[in-house]
Amino acid sequence: MSMSAAASQSGAVEGSPLVALRGVTKVYGQGAAAMLALRGVDMVVDEGEFVAVMGPSGSGKSTVMNILACLDTPTQGQYFFKGVEVGAMSRNQRALLRRQYLGFVFQGFNLLGRTSALENVELPLIYRGIKIEERHLLARKALAVVGLNGWEDHTPSELSGGQQQRVAIARAIVSQPAVLLADEPTGNLDSGRSLEIMELLTAFNQEMGITIIMVTHEAEMARFARRVIHFRDGLIAADETATRPGQEESREREGR
Ligand SMILES: Nc1ncnc2c1ncn2[C@@H]1O[C@H](COP(=O)(O)OP(=O)(O)OP(=O)(O)O)[C@@H](O)[C@H]1O
Ligand SMILES: [Mg+2]
Repeated sequence: MSMSAAASQSGAVEGSPLVALRGVTKVYGQGAAAMLALRGVDMVVDEGEFVAVMGPSGSGKSTVMNILACLDTPTQGQYFFKGVEVGAMSRNQRALLRRQYLGFVFQGFNLLGRTSALENVELPLIYRGIKIEERHLLARKALAVVGLNGWEDHTPSELSGGQQQRVAIARAIVSQPAVLLADEPTGNLDSGRSLEIMELLTAFNQEMGITIIMVTHEAEMARFARRVIHFRDGLIAADETATRPGQEESREREGR
């Protein structure tokens, strides 16, 4: 099924932003121990954007990512995907949204330890019911894209941190998601490796049209994004769109 066919089947509203959070709060725990992780977040991301999410530890970045990934639900407020309220979807529709549209790279890699790189990358395809031959083919391709051909049969324990990170990224993009959600994808890497990962993400964004929302602590990595959203104490404190010479030019051209 094509993406737009799937979208119209799921009732996507024409002209809606790809993702939108409206007044989203998140409370963890109860009573005196209650912790307000998000305090009313409004955030809109359009198709094709590359957004960096920054902010101090504990400011709510991962909480927002988990909500966008449908791994957690807002306490109050709404999450819309292509104009459809995610909270009003059935379990099946939400599972479909996760499988068809979303790819994740988690804080930490979340790879299966005793399973080969190839099988780790194939996992999302298994959930999508894709047959074994095609799974192998797509997973090999995704591993090649991240520069890991020849490493298919290695388990994560036989790979370096940077290589494990690449496996996690291959797994996130193998199903060609509309949105890639990455929580500190370069968190454990030295700066050379980190820049390579950022170049990969930039290529996914520019060449494959994948919308990227990426948490990072490092300004050097955030520079690859065109927009930076800063969180503080569970709220968006700033939302900046970079103006680079090339982009201003293209915007002007479009305006004419
Ligand atoms: N499952 C949970 N149960 C209870 N409190 C939680 C849970 N997850 C997060 N929190 C709390 O919510 C707040 C926001 O956490 P979150 O993980 O979103 O921060 P973060 O911005 O991702 O931080 P970091 O940069 O350290 O990853 C923190 O105070 C945290 O302790
Ligand atoms: Mg976090």
